[in-house]
Amino acid sequence: MPEIAEFVEMPGQIELGKNVIMQSLIKRIQVAVLVMVIICGGTGNLAAGQNKSPVAPTEQAYNAILIEAYENFKNDTSGKNADYIPALAQVDSRLYGIAIVTTDGRVYKVGDVDHAFSIQSISKVFTLALAIEEQGAEEVFRKVGSEPTGRAFNSIPAVVDMPTHAGNPYVNAGAIATASLISGGANEKWNKLLTFYSKAAGTKLSILEDVYKSEAATNTGNKAISMLLAKYDRIYADPFESVDVYTKACSVGVTAYQLAVMGATLSNNGKNPLTSEQVMKRENVPHILSAMMMAGLYDGSGSWAWHVGIPAKSGVGGGIVAVVPGKGAMAVFAPPLDEAGNSVKAQKAIAYVADKLGINIFSPASVGLR
Ligand code: DON
Repeated sequence: MPEIAEFVEMPGQIELGKNVIMQSLIKRIQVAVLVMVIICGGTGNLAAGQNKSPVAPTEQAYNAILIEAYENFKNDTSGKNADYIPALAQVDSRLYGIAIVTTDGRVYKVGDVDHAFSIQSISKVFTLALAIEEQGAEEVFRKVGSEPTGRAFNSIPAVVDMPTHAGNPYVNAGAIATASLISGGANEKWNKLLTFYSKAAGTKLSILEDVYKSEAATNTGNKAISMLLAKYDRIYADPFESVDVYTKACSVGVTAYQLAVMGATLSNNGKNPLTSEQVMKRENVPHILSAMMMAGLYDGSGSWAWHVGIPAKSGVGGGIVAVVPGKGAMAVFAPPLDEAGNSVKAQKAIAYVADKLGINIFSPASVGLR
């Protein structure tokens, strides 16, 4: 059975002492706790000082839908772990976890939500966020671009063919160019990125060394891309150093829960809903999410927009984060991928929850218009 991580300790679970006065005291405390839980809105983790939206689905609804999404797809064995990075082929392909974090600080989790996996391409979202923070949106737009390539995320011909060469910040070429834009030398860039990701996650993240070593030993394609970018004047620091910063960023370990917090930070105007830290400027968020809508699932992005309609970003580590502006984010981890490099179960689970909650951002119903 899946575990819903939030629960309330019911009165009957506390062993009462024999002393009658103690028993009555304990009962009073239990009633008070229960009343407080009800006032605070049930089983979610509401951050201090935050209010629950009156139109938000109830905790029961969230929990029920989450369990359904988990159960419906947990035995789905379609897809295959990424193996072009050897360390990713070793990850247990049965791992499956789903987490939702809302802008009012509620947390819902089921399955393997505390297993750290490599963030991979989802790092591109937060590298872009830091680049925009430092350089401004128009400068990043001019230097990287934002057109979908319609090609695989690591396409070398796309670098030649695309008028902007870098394509957009979410394909490898654009992400390497974006990493090169972060100010400072290679070490400084990397430290800044890790700190920035950690703020978005609300916890100190770290690199998965085995994944980094495995990718660094095999990333000849990305090195070729960086040299092509240099040929077209679309990389803004040393090409191979930029690939190394990018590779480290892709090797950062996150859990599905931490990824959902990172997504919720975007959903909440750049402010982490659990720590209340303003991680990025609120006006930067629409640029980051619009790029997710157009290119977050690479050559699967059009189909995703058509069927699900929520900005999302995938990584070959098996994670996908979907961000509903103003409402919250959902992150799913399940390693087997489809042909485009997107987790099969994650796509199915997010599509299921999105349909049940009616949160397709292109549907007027998502803002209450019936
Ligand atoms: O550069 C790579 O190939 C990986 N570090 C990241 C690719 C990735 O995650 C694509 N995602 N679906």
